[in-house]
Amino acid sequence: MLPGKFISFEGVDGAGKSTHVEAVAQYLRDRGLNVVTTREPGGTPLGEKLRELLLHESMHLETEALLMFAARREHIAKIILPAIHRGDWVISDRFTDASFAYQGGGRRLALDKLQSLEQWVHADLQPDLTLLFDVPLEVARERLSAGRALDKFEQEKDDFFERVREVYLMRVRSFPSRIKIIDGTRPVAEVSAQVEHDVTALLGGQ
Ligand code: TYD
Repeated sequence: MLPGKFISFEGVDGAGKSTHVEAVAQYLRDRGLNVVTTREPGGTPLGEKLRELLLHESMHLETEALLMFAARREHIAKIILPAIHRGDWVISDRFTDASFAYQGGGRRLALDKLQSLEQWVHADLQPDLTLLFDVPLEVARERLSAGRALDKFEQEKDDFFERVREVYLMRVRSFPSRIKIIDGTRPVAEVSAQVEHDVTALLGGQ
């Protein structure tokens, strides 16, 4: 058992997860914990360069999957594992469930290829807890169109996001003790309370 904890936040674009990353980090810091917040793709200088390419350049779907895992390899080596070994808590805005949902679901890349990459890159590491922010497609769409310019993924059509959401929900059924659903349609204060409740359950294991 490693001394720290690893939490990932997931959901379709527009589900509202990013709002809660900093809030829950503060909640944990108030309890005396060291918290590292980070994101994927990205989280390291090289990973952020790869993010730029991934979010703005069109590429073959396998190139996209490989670059996601290349960025992840760097992220695990430089940020995630050192932090967990120090006893810190890591909160990552997305991790490998996003590759299954977006590259596997959205782009229809064969799941066994993603499983091979997962085995290669982090056979022995999984988040202790994953919070899946779930909202119906119409809600996600509305939130996205209210914001800034859309990146490559956000410009995808509705059926892409239906497949992304479907794979996320499939993974909840496959990993029910790790992945918890957060109903992202509820008011922000209620969502925060749910997030804090789920994260607090991990504190017991400290
Ligand atoms: P996102 O985390 O939503 O950031 P922002 O809130 O700044 O838009 O954007 C990252 C995008 O990358 C998102 O559309 C999902 C996609 N993605 C994948 O397709 N596969 C992955 O493995 C990861 C980590 C992200």
